[in-house]
Amino acid sequence: MPPTVYSIIHVLSILVLTGYTFYAFAAAPESRKRVLMITGIASVLALVGGFGLQAKLALGWPGWLFVKIVCWLTLSALAGFGYRRRQSAPTLAAVAFACVTVAVVMVYVRPF
Ligand code: HEM
Repeated sequence: MPPTVYSIIHVLSILVLTGYTFYAFAAAPESRKRVLMITGIASVLALVGGFGLQAKLALGWPGWLFVKIVCWLTLSALAGFGYRRRQSAPTLAAVAFACVTVAVVMVYVRPF
């Protein structure tokens, strides 16, 4: 597959993962199963797209990629926490925002 396809998969699934993660912080408890299924699938697709890009663009293992993986891991866990810790929603939202910001800054700035 060409890198553009991996790019589209990566960015689209990150958008879905981010959107549904924020939704999870305020959604009704009955939506838990459906939302966690959607964020789970989006999370896997984001990783497939990310590693597809890494391989196709022959990037190797730069430091910024490890930082993005940590951001992805954290973001992927937040929807589940959101349902269990409703009172922590503002903190979880701040963490989600920080993860997305750091991951985007990493890919454009590439400090290491
Ligand atoms: C919160 C998580 C993440 C966000 C918000 C994010 C966001 C982005 C964005 C906006 C781009 C630029 C669009 C593009 O070139 O396709 C990108 C590219 C990329 N991402 Fe991610 N990403 C995340 C996680 C990951 C993970 C876990 C990996 C590693 C498997 C990864 C690997 C890459 C690679 C290799 C590129 C292409 C860099 C290049 O063009 O040279 N990303 N990401």
